Amino acid sequence: MPKITVIGAGAVGATAAQRIAEKELGDVILTDIVEGLPQGKALDLMEAGPLFGYDSKITGTNDYKDIEGSDVVVITAGIARKPGMTREDLLKINAKIIKEVSQNITKYAPDSIIITVTNPLDIMTYVTMKTTNFESRRVFGMSGVLDSGRFAAFIAMELGCSVRDISAMVLGGHGDTMVPLPRFTTVQGVPITELMPQSAIQRLVERTVNGGAEIVDLLKTGSAFYAPSAAVTNMIEAVVKDTKRVLPVCAWLNGEYGKKDIYLGVPVKLGKRGVEEIIELKLNTDEKKALDRSAGAVSSGIDSLNALGI
Ligand code: LAC
Repeated sequence: MPKITVIGAGAVGATAAQRIAEKELGDVILTDIVEGLPQGKALDLMEAGPLFGYDSKITGTNDYKDIEGSDVVVITAGIARKPGMTREDLLKINAKIIKEVSQNITKYAPDSIIITVTNPLDIMTYVTMKTTNFESRRVFGMSGVLDSGRFAAFIAMELGCSVRDISAMVLGGHGDTMVPLPRFTTVQGVPITELMPQSAIQRLVERTVNGGAEIVDLLKTGSAFYAPSAAVTNMIEAVVKDTKRVLPVCAWLNGEYGKKDIYLGVPVKLGKRGVEEIIELKLNTDEKKALDRSAGAVSSGIDSLNALGI
């Protein structure tokens, strides 16, 4: 079985471990700095195995040595934004955490594929790549799969159709500037632009962009974890089963979409080598402008990271 490490045993990390085990995608190493937390959750998941019929082994640990030889490493470690905290505060704290985590991945799992989940997503994926110095195809972030999952859920609710028939596409950074693409979002092949009035599409696009905040407002003490863990599990599945699925992923651009030296959400082909191909969509002027704006926001995040000297 593939060895899949999940770093951070919070809600997203532990639920991802559960989903990976239930799908038997591999054996799971769940790590955290809090003593007992990953061990307790891992044991609980092992005890659920006979009930749900999965043979994946889940091991909890506080020791990075145990991640040795991992095929895939998912980074969920970090803190969520608390009231009164600026984006820059969050950037500073999480960048330090991601840097330390990345150094340990380089040491113990130098051949792994890394999927970063920690926010601010695009910047943390950049930190992961810069610290590990892994080829960019092996370091990417989870954002577009979650955002397009949300978009698809809202479309299904609006049209009263099955989520199975919806294929949604959301590009750009994981934040206020993300770019849902109605023209590339279809119900059984029919673009939603032919199925809904522009006003309804606009409403669903805005709800998608604010999707993370809507959950935070409801939960009050935490952020989303069911859909984020489902999104990263889909990405892991594409890698370990080498399915070559086309999914929107936060990927390193080297000239694609006219952008360089930046991580940004774009459709890619995912397989056992990681990001195997970046798919360039033919965007119209407005879509291009929206993607440029999103790239600008990610670039200024990278600039403030560099200004902080992390
Ligand atoms: C979300 C945040 C946590 O989209 O990134 O739910």
